[in-house]
Amino acid sequence: MNGLEPADIQRALRTSRFGRSLAVFDAIASTNTEALERARDGAPEGHVVLADSQRQGRGRLKRQWVSPPGCNLYCSLIVRPALPVAQVPLLTLTAGLAAAETVATRVSEGVRIKWPNDVLIQGRKAAGILTEMETEGGRVAFAVVGIGVNLNATEAQFPPALRRLATSIAAATGRAVDRAAFCAELLNRLEDRYDLLLRHGFAAIAPLWQDWDALAGRRIEVRDGGRAVTGTARGLAADGRLRLEAADGAHDIVAGDVTVVAGAPAPGTA
Ligand code: BTN
Repeated sequence: MNGLEPADIQRALRTSRFGRSLAVFDAIASTNTEALERARDGAPEGHVVLADSQRQGRGRLKRQWVSPPGCNLYCSLIVRPALPVAQVPLLTLTAGLAAAETVATRVSEGVRIKWPNDVLIQGRKAAGILTEMETEGGRVAFAVVGIGVNLNATEAQFPPALRRLATSIAAATGRAVDRAAFCAELLNRLEDRYDLLLRHGFAAIAPLWQDWDALAGRRIEVRDGGRAVTGTARGLAADGRLRLEAADGAHDIVAGDVTVVAGAPAPGTA
């Protein structure tokens, strides 16, 4: 279908599991919802759900993920990692790394990751990750890693309120992106980084991730519910939390919405 043929994707895969079974929908509510149902029904690790468009694409913090047809990638991957529940956020960070690396194969400059899950091109959001999971006896039964990448969306396809905040690879580079080829490359990198995480722990992912860090050394504000804390971002803690140096001491942030405080790189940093 329209640049998302399973055969085109699978021909370019170098994976052992990811994408080897694949379902492609024309229009769907959310690929994450479909993948969660399939995982409950026993779909194996590596099963992928894709859609040309989503009616109710969702993002973090109950936000909508704008999902028009014919242009972007909406992809949900089922994994069944032997990880404690507290380590599930590491899947989001690992997927963000794989997504940034894949975006950077098409964009020569300005690709960064804004903790925890935004892939930016020149400061504008081009991709996001939403990981959802179910547990069994205190461990992860399965997780669905949902990845949305704006590949070919034009500025006009974003709602006015998002136009200055979001972009696509094609809008940033002037070059159209082949959806099937991009999807296969993303799945190749995802499996590679996921296996690295499971075999060697987050200590193997963190240094790779920090190379893409949009926030290190920047003055930021983190909002979580009604609370807000301001300070200087200092990279990742060993468990993937965001290190923040604030006036009242160091904080390791578990969750929240991060904004860079305008025009204020930290003293002594780039
Ligand atoms: C975010 O940045 O807030 C996360 C966005 C995740 C969007 C993707 S698109 C494929 C999958 N299906 C969804 O409904 N959401 C994720």
